[in-house]
Amino acid sequence: MPMNQTNSRTGSGLDADLTVDRPLAGGSGPAHQRLAAWLRSEINGGRLLPGDRLPPSRALAEQLGASRWVVTEAYDQLKAEGYLTGRTGSATIVAEVAPRPPATPDTPPATPTDPAAVLDLSPALPDLGSFPRSWWRAAITRALVTASDVQLGHPDPAGEPELRRVLADYLRRVRALDGRPDHVQITQGVGNAVWLLCRHLRARGVRRLAVENPCWPRVRRIAGVHDLDVVPVPVDGEGLIVDHLVAADAQQRIDAVVTMPTHQFPTGVPLSPPRRLALLSWAETGNRWIVEDDYDSEFRYDRRPVGALAALAPERVIYLGSVSKTLSPSLHLGWMVVPEPLRAGLDAARDALGALAPALDQLALADLIDSGRYDRHLRRMRRLYQARRLALLAALAAESVPGAAAPSMDAGLHVLWYLPAATDESRLIERSRGAGIALTGLAPCHTGRGRPGLVLGYGNLPEHRAAGVARLLAAAAR
Ligand SMILES: Cc1ncc(COP(=O)(O)O)c(C=O)c1O
Repeated sequence: MPMNQTNSRTGSGLDADLTVDRPLAGGSGPAHQRLAAWLRSEINGGRLLPGDRLPPSRALAEQLGASRWVVTEAYDQLKAEGYLTGRTGSATIVAEVAPRPPATPDTPPATPTDPAAVLDLSPALPDLGSFPRSWWRAAITRALVTASDVQLGHPDPAGEPELRRVLADYLRRVRALDGRPDHVQITQGVGNAVWLLCRHLRARGVRRLAVENPCWPRVRRIAGVHDLDVVPVPVDGEGLIVDHLVAADAQQRIDAVVTMPTHQFPTGVPLSPPRRLALLSWAETGNRWIVEDDYDSEFRYDRRPVGALAALAPERVIYLGSVSKTLSPSLHLGWMVVPEPLRAGLDAARDALGALAPALDQLALADLIDSGRYDRHLRRMRRLYQARRLALLAALAAESVPGAAAPSMDAGLHVLWYLPAATDESRLIERSRGAGIALTGLAPCHTGRGRPGLVLGYGNLPEHRAAGVARLLAAAAR
């Protein structure tokens, strides 16, 4: 596409994400060069994509507290280098074929043990370089300025009422949940919510908890801590095999199941419509609980995500979510929507745990969502992740490792790459670590033996590095 044309992404509203002070913070040299270097690294890092529109020079200059000349110089420099396009007086846009630095993943970094030098392909990480720092800073500032003195006291154990209200609205809008604000409880993330629920269910006499196999290993660990018997239920191409759950339950009562119906971890499949109905009927007829981890519902790329189970049976389903994949796991902010009968006892579990998300962070999240910036951030991240996903899948396909396969749904932040049956998964992971790539294996997700594989997170994998990473992995797998 010629440089002065743009693609459909133009006008996406990305401009506001450049309102950070980072471009000019730190470093030495003239301000326009520092700004140009920062923009270059955003483009090379895949955080600005071809077609993204940069803010007008006057607006960016104001936001940075710099002169307009600084911005126009930086833009002109990058236009000359082919990174940007756009004539004077029109929008400045990231070019379709922006230059990329040479890919170097085959070369082990000088000190692979240095965490900063390791390319972390953990499926639990979003693109940390894309955290909307300026928006978060603005939201935190607003929270600090507007919080009442009372709000600076001991936080409400169920969460800040403001955030609960905003989340109830948000979940109604995006997931058709019809929870009232007092059904929404703020947590420190999905893991924390599972912890609270296990404690609470155990106190109510629950003994056996079903989990998917393979599953997020943390769920099994948390259930174990609470002395719950974990019943692994296999997953196939349609998600949790509900018939197996029903059969296991017939032998000895199972009171609850933890499931990821939108995008199962780690297999990446959604629960099929017949299984959804079968699961709901199992819960409803036997007064059982479904714990729904609405994992990756924000990141479906080909169409809208399948609906939440909690929208169909709010009285039987406990719904969990967090910002760990949408913003950052470091915030430790999440939520659950709890059916009425389970609400009261949760307070005791929360008291026992003691830890609550900081009130100011909760208020900042409420502000971010309410202002529409959370939605804008997600829109931007969807485009970025989909491009990364396609690049990784294409790169893996190009390597054609006999016996390997990457069955995949157009969603999420990871690809499950099944390895040839004879592969020593842990050895492959160890060797890759030596070459500067941190990998997550499939083995810890299984109860019992399963096919070897890698759960490849691409949240932090820029497109231009996908081929090199795939080459390295393929060589190790062969
Ligand atoms: C399956 C699954 N659900 C949820 C999460 C998010 O967990 P948390 O909110 O505790 O960070 C993760 C993160 O690794 C995950 O793998």
